[in-house]
This record gives sequence, C-alpha cells and structure tokens, in this order.
Amino acid sequence: MNMTVDIPGWNGKFSRDWRSYSKEQIKELYEIVHQKVWKRNFNKKDILWLIFNIDSWSSLSVLDVGCAIGHMGAFLHRFGTRRYCGLDVSDIAIKKAWARLHKLQWLDLQFISSYIEDNKLSETYDVVLCSHTLEHVLDLKKAIAKMKEIADKYIAIVVPMQMKPGGKSYHTHIFPHPDILVDAVGLDQYQVDVRTPAKGRRIIRYIGRIP
Ligand SMILES: C[S@@+](CC[C@H](N)C(=O)[O-])C[C@H]1O[C@@H](n2cnc3c(N)ncnc32)[C@H](O)[C@@H]1O
Repeated sequence: MNMTVDIPGWNGKFSRDWRSYSKEQIKELYEIVHQKVWKRNFNKKDILWLIFNIDSWSSLSVLDVGCAIGHMGAFLHRFGTRRYCGLDVSDIAIKKAWARLHKLQWLDLQFISSYIEDNKLSETYDVVLCSHTLEHVLDLKKAIAKMKEIADKYIAIVVPMQMKPGGKSYHTHIFPHPDILVDAVGLDQYQVDVRTPAKGRRIIRYIGRIP
C-alpha cells in the first residue's frame, strides 16, 4: 500500500516511525488511507488461481480478511460467490464496501469491523481468504490461528514475496520464500505457487486444506 500521502500530522513521519505506532494509531492510519487514497491492490490472476484451484467455489461461503472497500467482494461475486463476509480493521472501509456490495444479489452478506487477531467470531466459513493483508497484521501467529479456527475447508492466502522490508510500505511481516508461509500456516495439505510478474514483486499464492 502506498503511504506517501498528504496526511496532516503523519507526513514523512510515517515511513520512518510506523513500527512504534500503537494499535489505535495504526487503525487511525488505515481509516485515513481508506478515506483518501485507497487503490485496489489485488491482481485478478492471483484470485483466479485460487478460485480455479478450489472445488465448487461458487457454493462456498467466504470470509474475506482485509476486505478493504469491497473490490474483492465484487470480483468474487462475478465468479459465483453468494455467501460473503468482509472483515477489516477500518470502519470507513467497511462502510464503503457495504455501499459497493449491498446492491448485488447475495444469499448472505455480512461485514465485521475488527483486527482479525482480536475477533471473537464464532461463525465458521468454508473459505477464509486473506489477500495482501497477512503482511500487514500485527500478530502473525494470532491471525493465522484465528483464520484456522474459523475455516471449515480452505485457507486461501496471497502475499508478496519479499526479501527485506520495503522502503515506505507498511509491512509488518515479510515472506522471502513460500516455505516461510507454508510453515507459518502449518497445514499438511496445501498447494503453493509463485507468480513472477514482468515488473514488480513476485507473489505467493497459497491454498491450505483444513483436515
Ligand atoms: C493492502 S489491503 C488489501 C485489500 C484487499 N484484500 C486486496 O487484496 O486488494 C490490506 C487491508 O487489510 C486491512 N487490515 C490490515 N491489518 C489488518 C488486520 N490485522 N485485521 C483486519 N484487517 C486488517 C486494511 O485496512 C486493508 O483494508
């Protein structure tokens, strides 16, 4: 996510100091970013890889961790998703996602405003999807444990493959090799793939099967 934006009180400071910010400040930052500068982040090829490698995709319920402002929900809807829950730490993102998605036809549409690590969800979902978000979470172990707890069938993840923390991007975790992700998730049955774009970072795509 590009954070070089005109944010009063944050300008310039952010790329230098973000590691020392409190959880509340990070949430505040996400609110500002979602209000002012959000751009869609996912690449269709990565999401199609997930969809085509998961059986009976269109009949499954999906929890989208880091749903942002609803672009992903709209994309999944085109591929048959009708039971969708978007979760994001930003209230503004959730509001915008609702505005974008509620007019489409769903069997079930929900949103949850929370850090994934803190969520007390009791409901479970066939697929827990997490695209370009795991590299941002504050507590990787907790986030993955939560995702495994609420996934009935699959965990689907997209993260950048990154050797060192990128200059201005706010990435709390880096994944220099697919095995780092595979080990962190810790499922025995999985598929993992690396996409190498002509320009920019390589991308790790992962599907884990819940036993
Ligand atoms: C880079 S965006 C990715 C958005 C979208 N999933 C995509 O692939 O384009 C990361 C999103 O995750 C949210 N986020 C970051 N950390 C989070 C956390 N710990 N729990 C829930 N949402 C989080 C941010 O507000 C943001 O909307």
